[in-house]
Amino acid sequence: MKNFLSVHDATTIPDLVNRARHYKASRNENRELADGKTLINLFFNPSLRTRLSTERAGYELGFQVITMDAGGGWKLEFEDGAVMNLDSAEHVKEAAGVLSQYCDVLAVRSFPGLEDRTADYEDRIINAFVKYATVPVVSLESAIRHPLQSLADCVTIAEHRQTDRPKVVLTWAPHPRKLPQAVANSFAEWMVKWDEVDLTIANPEGFDLATEFTAGARVLHNQEEAMRGADFVYAKNWSSYTDYGATAQLPDWTVSEQKMALTNDAFFMHCLPVRRNVVVTDGVLDSDRSLVLRQADNRTWAAAAVLAGLLGG
Ligand code: CP
Repeated sequence: MKNFLSVHDATTIPDLVNRARHYKASRNENRELADGKTLINLFFNPSLRTRLSTERAGYELGFQVITMDAGGGWKLEFEDGAVMNLDSAEHVKEAAGVLSQYCDVLAVRSFPGLEDRTADYEDRIINAFVKYATVPVVSLESAIRHPLQSLADCVTIAEHRQTDRPKVVLTWAPHPRKLPQAVANSFAEWMVKWDEVDLTIANPEGFDLATEFTAGARVLHNQEEAMRGADFVYAKNWSSYTDYGATAQLPDWTVSEQKMALTNDAFFMHCLPVRRNVVVTDGVLDSDRSLVLRQADNRTWAAAAVLAGLLGG
């Protein structure tokens, strides 16, 4: 792997899943791998899981880890040829070049603005770092993808599946704020590429994801029909791709015990953070079929597999 930005950078999904499970099974035994190397995590947006699991993965492999919160007053310029006489104090060309001198792997989180679909879907910020960094770049969630989350989700499904090709349902669920499509895009993209699962996506009319991520999946606008016979139910809110950034308050789409009763005793998944009794009821989240904490744990091992892969380990 040269960079880790999407499923297209994975060697193969089964290979990366096996590597993550290897690091999970051999925790505390891999501290030589990145001895003398430095990992920089650059966050333009807040995080609990991604920040701490990636730091922990770095320590597991022996990296020195530096994390920088860049969401405050540090305004970067991303346009080539810009006349920088306004707010931006530094161009990404210099910033990425400087950061590359301080580390062996550079990881970046940058969310979309959800105003300009063309700009967001060009994934300009992460791609600018890839262009100007001289070290491997890892996405900690970009404008349109969250690949470390998706790999952790694959690991969690691999650990819990009871059939060779389980039915996985990605369902839209309500949320009071407008959220990116990144987690859902990425989850769909990984599930479609992974030939060990059968993906159905359920979302209201007007909330279809971009087909570049979903081609090959079944897309339904009836949540109950989609959930029938499911082995895994993955809930997530996303704002509209077609009416870009628009939201809808649709409480009928909350995942409840009654809807889970339609499934094949499915496991419930969510990337967290989750709004209780909006996205999903307490009863589902607190049940023994909920995998949300296992997913969060697997974020560490997914990150370890990726960081080791970038070092050739
Ligand atoms: N799932 C996830 O990415 O969580 P954070 O936003 O807390 O990193």
